[in-house]
Amino acid sequence: MNDALNSVFRPKSVAIVGASRFPGKIGYEILRNLKEYGYKGKIYPVNPAADKILGIKCYHNVLEVPGSIDLAIISIPAKFVPPVIDQLAEKGTKAAVVISSGFSEVGNRELEEDLIRRARRGGIRIIGPNVFGVLYSPTRLNATFGPRDVRPGKIAFITQSGALGIALMGWTVTEKIGLSAVVSVGNKADVDDADLLSWFREDENTKVVLIYMEGVVDGRRFLKEARLTTKVKPIIVLKAGRSKKGMAAASSHTGSMAGADVVYSASFKQAGVLRAENLEQAFDWAIAFSAERFPKGNKVVIITNGGGVGVMATDSCEAAGLEVFDPPEDLKREFKKYMPEFGSAKNPIDLTGMATHEEFRGAMRSAIKHKAVDCIIALYCETAVSDPIKIAEVIKEVFDLSNKPITATMIGGERVNEAMAFLKENGVPVYPDTERAVSAMAALVRWMERRSL
Ligand code: ACO
Repeated sequence: MNDALNSVFRPKSVAIVGASRFPGKIGYEILRNLKEYGYKGKIYPVNPAADKILGIKCYHNVLEVPGSIDLAIISIPAKFVPPVIDQLAEKGTKAAVVISSGFSEVGNRELEEDLIRRARRGGIRIIGPNVFGVLYSPTRLNATFGPRDVRPGKIAFITQSGALGIALMGWTVTEKIGLSAVVSVGNKADVDDADLLSWFREDENTKVVLIYMEGVVDGRRFLKEARLTTKVKPIIVLKAGRSKKGMAAASSHTGSMAGADVVYSASFKQAGVLRAENLEQAFDWAIAFSAERFPKGNKVVIITNGGGVGVMATDSCEAAGLEVFDPPEDLKREFKKYMPEFGSAKNPIDLTGMATHEEFRGAMRSAIKHKAVDCIIALYCETAVSDPIKIAEVIKEVFDLSNKPITATMIGGERVNEAMAFLKENGVPVYPDTERAVSAMAALVRWMERRSL
């Protein structure tokens, strides 16, 4: 199995069957992404009517390709796909990504069965059909018709929805979120989430797996792989189709059998999988996991220059199961060095509106050093006496020194946006509101608790 998925993510050669001569067509854009994202292996466009596309020599059919083909990306009308699978089998190809729609998702089950029968006979694993492709940033493989310049990172994103997946790829670029992989699984006629989990579990470039799921094909196998994976790296699932009508919509979208939602929730919990409520939350958590700092327990220190945000964060912590504990006297004495008389060294640590980056530095350094503290949430409200950029630099400085997790919230105007961009660029989990910083920290704590069960 791993061999076939190695061919998907680390191919030495890729054929694009249905590479088009015309910009704007799917087969053209995939070829262009592959070339321009910087893939270094051999690229073989296949098109019966072309000799060259984008300056790359073209072959009229798969059998004409001179070398071996590790991975084939197939973008031709559905009914022509099965015979191409036979040709690829003759070439010894181990994996194919079938972009084409028009299979079981529109009731055309026979065609899909024919495709899979031929693939099994030929020893080829299939991703799809009905997908937008596969991206793996460590090998600079962008075989999708999504955005080209995806930021490299540590999140593997598996999506059953195509359009949503493509849209999110673009959004991660704007949000400065790095991805190790994007896999569009579509109809999951062969390779499914369980197969991918077993591969990403071993993949050193992936630190967290995020799945947008409408349904699973083989629940038992998924849970088995998930259980093994969550022992070593977290899995975040956004499972859509909760309501009756949502389930029906999922079934006509990707042909999924969506089971009772409570069963999914209970099974995820047992397997140590974190279930997110929405996309924002799923990525918020994934960003925190990408930082690779894990709490030993749930004792949190909130450090802030704003009383109000401190109170809001305290409420959220309590609801999320984080303990805003009363710091021991020695730590309180330390905190007091960095605040005026009227500050508060009780948790939340209120450095007051007079605080500059120096006070944040002192208080945050004291917190990461003290053994009673498991994790730190830093909250900053923009004031005229402090410089958001310097605050962000201090947060990064402490984050770099710390093996305890830190999440941050910065609230304010244009300079705060710049400061947050700096933190994101440097992999520090920062969010525009307190609840999100708390929720991300709580996800880290929950994963640590569940994996040790
Ligand atoms: N081998 C190699 N090339 C071939 C073959 C073949 N057997 N047959 C045709 N071609 C060539 C064609 O000549 C054409 O080249 P040209 O554009 O230079 O003339 C190219 O392959 C494409 O073939 P077309 O018949 O023009 O097909 P078209 O590009 O219009 O559509 C496609 C193919 C994209 C696979 C379409 O059938 C399809 O399924 N579209 C939906 C894809 C999709 O949305 N997938 C899900 C993604 S997720 C989401 O929802 C976003």
